[in-house]
Amino acid sequence: MAGKPKDVGPNVDRRRFLTLAGLGIGWAGLGASLGGTAVGAFKYMAPSVTYEPPTRFKIGKPSDYGIGVDNRLKKERQIWVVRDDVGLYVMVAICRHLGCTPNWFVGQQRFRCPCHGSIYDIAGNVRGGPAPRALWRAAVSLDSVDGQVVVDFTQRQDPDPKGTVDGLMVDEKMRRVKPFFLEL
Ligand code: FES
Repeated sequence: MAGKPKDVGPNVDRRRFLTLAGLGIGWAGLGASLGGTAVGAFKYMAPSVTYEPPTRFKIGKPSDYGIGVDNRLKKERQIWVVRDDVGLYVMVAICRHLGCTPNWFVGQQRFRCPCHGSIYDIAGNVRGGPAPRALWRAAVSLDSVDGQVVVDFTQRQDPDPKGTVDGLMVDEKMRRVKPFFLEL
């Protein structure tokens, strides 16, 4: 006599499905956990390196710059290149109040800071607003091999300005000294 038929049909399929699904989730969890451990171990072993922009860099030849303020490197290098009949200097595009980036207005011949209204002239003297010091100038030199201007962004000229009716002024002769001015 035939026994009770085996439990087949939808119930078995559902059980098998749940078992397989459980196994799948288990393996996925294990994989994620091992992956996380491997990443953690790699991070632990790898030196922690931060990729900062170089502080000494070339900006092309003096002849690449015309008379006046050149804005081209403001975004990439935080500098303005200023050239006149005598030579060239590089001004750091960081406001001396709280560090915002001023803009050059050629019509007014002024740098104006959008944050709190500091105003500087083409030499970096403070002509208005809360800035307590003149704009920095960065050290410049000429590369002896390719003749390009080399800027040292961290070596900065920071003279004490004098309070005058025109603003906080620095004697321009004092600023036109090596390595902050390139006579051309
Ligand atoms: S940061 Fe430039 S005026 Fe305040």
